[in-house]
Amino acid sequence: MAITKVKSLKGEISVPGDKSISHRGVMFGAISKGTTELTGFLDGADCRSTISCFKAMGIDINQNGDHVVIHGNGLHGLKAPSSMLDVGNSGTTTRLISGILAGQPFISSLNGDESIQRRPMGRIITPLSEMGAYIKSLKDNGCTPLEIGGQSLHSIHYNSPVASAQVKSCVLLAGLYADGITSVTEPVISRNHTELMLSGFGANIKSEGLTATIVGNPTLNGQKIAVPGDISSAAYFIVAGLICENSDLLIKNVNTNPTRAGIIKVAQAMGGNIELLNERIVSGEPVADIHVSTSNLHGCEVKGDIIPALIDEIPVIAVMAACAEGQTIIKDAAELKVKESNRIATVTENLANMGCDIISTDDGMIINGGKPLHGTNIKTYLDHRIAMSFAIAGLVADGETTFDNEACCQISYPDFFETIKNYTNKNKRKNLLSSKFLPLLYYSNTRFLKSVYPPISFVGKENIPKRYPTKTSKVNSIFRISSIEINTFPSQE
Ligand code: S3P
Repeated sequence: MAITKVKSLKGEISVPGDKSISHRGVMFGAISKGTTELTGFLDGADCRSTISCFKAMGIDINQNGDHVVIHGNGLHGLKAPSSMLDVGNSGTTTRLISGILAGQPFISSLNGDESIQRRPMGRIITPLSEMGAYIKSLKDNGCTPLEIGGQSLHSIHYNSPVASAQVKSCVLLAGLYADGITSVTEPVISRNHTELMLSGFGANIKSEGLTATIVGNPTLNGQKIAVPGDISSAAYFIVAGLICENSDLLIKNVNTNPTRAGIIKVAQAMGGNIELLNERIVSGEPVADIHVSTSNLHGCEVKGDIIPALIDEIPVIAVMAACAEGQTIIKDAAELKVKESNRIATVTENLANMGCDIISTDDGMIINGGKPLHGTNIKTYLDHRIAMSFAIAGLVADGETTFDNEACCQISYPDFFETIKNYTNKNKRKNLLSSKFLPLLYYSNTRFLKSVYPPISFVGKENIPKRYPTKTSKVNSIFRISSIEINTFPSQE
C-alpha cells in the first residue's frame, strides 16, 4: 500500500488487545487449574505462537478470534511435546516459556524464525542455570535453538543486569517450580503484567521497589480476563493524531499501566495535546481512552528510568521527534539493538531516507526535527514496529511511502494497514463532503460522476448506491458516499 499525506485524521479507534497481557493469559491459564477465558485477546502471530506451544504440551485451547478459552491442567499438568516447540518471531514466548519449561520433569526444545535465532538468550540461560535448570543453546551461541528441562529447581535471588520484563518473568515463572522464595531485582522497573496477573491467578507474588518476589509451588486457578487495547499499538495513532494536521482522535480502551505508558509522558513533554479520559481498572490493569489532537511539538530528552516504559514505542517516538521543532535526544536505549531488528539502525536508516536530520548513537539517536519528510520505500527488516511507525511518518510526508514488506504487521496488529487505509480514506471523504464537490455528489448519477470526476472510483458493485441521495436523505447520503473510495485526492483549494 502506498501511503500519502492526509489532510485530516478524525474519529474514534480501538486497537487490538495487549500483546504482553495476551501471552501471559494463555501461559498462566495453561498452568492453572480449571478454565481461563480471555476476551480482547490479540489474535496476532506472536500470541498464536504461544497458543500452539501450549497445545503441543497437551493443553486444550479454543480460540475464536479475540476470544480464547484455555482448559488448564494445573502447575504440573504439561506433557512432553513430541517435537520442537515453534516460538515463531516471539521473544516473549521464548523467554517466558523457558522459565516454565525449566521446571518440567521432561526435556523439551524450542526454536523460532531467523530474527529469534539472533536474539540474546544468555540473559535467561544465566539465571535459569543458577536455579539448577538444564538449559542449553544448541548452537553454543547464546541463542535459540534451546534445549531445556528435566531438572529440579531451587530458588535464587537474581540481580538482573538488564531492565527486562521477559527476563524477570522467566525467573519468576521458574520460581513457581522451585522450593522457597525466588526474587528478581532489576536496575529499573520494567512492565509488571506478570506480577499483577499471576497474583490474580492465586500466586503469592509481591513487588517492592525494584524487586519482585514469588513463593514456589502455589495452586493457580483459572481466571476471566478482559485484555485491554495495547498501548504499543495505540502509540501509532497517538503520534498520528499529534503530527497530522486537522486531527482529533479518541483511542478507546487502552492499557495505561505506568510501566508501559512512557509515551504519554513524552508526548506531554513535547507539547502534545493528549489527555486520558474515562480512567478505570479492568482485570487488575489501568485502562483509559486517550484523546489526542494536532499539536505544535518541540524536541525533548528521552532517557533514564522511563526507557523500559516506552521501549517498544521508540520507533514511533522518533517519527514524532522528526516532526517536532528542535532537537530530541534518545539515550539509555541500547536494548533497541536486540529487538526484532536493531531498531537504532533501522529507525535511523529509514528516517534519514525520508529526509530527517538524524544520527544514531551507541544507546539511542539524536534527531533535529522540523525538516519536511518525503516518501520513500521503507526497509522494514521484517520488523512489525518499523513498518507501522513509518506508515505514520508517511501520513505527513510528501509523495508516496511504500514498504518492502507489510505482512510483518501480522505479529502484533494484523489489520494495521487496512485500518490506516480506512481512516485515511474516511477522512479524505470527509474533506470531500465538506468541499465544493458536495452538490455534485448529491445530484449526480454514477456514470455522470465517473465521467466528470475521474479520481473517484467505486469499490465493488455491492457498494455502489442504487440511487443517489437527495437533499432529504442527508444522513443516508453520508453513509452511502462512504462506500466510495477516492484513489487520488486533488489539492484542496
Ligand atoms: C515484553 C517485554 C519487552 C518488550 C516486548 C514484550 C513482555 O521486552 O520489548 O515487546 O511482554 O514482557 P524486554 O523484556 O526484552 O525488554
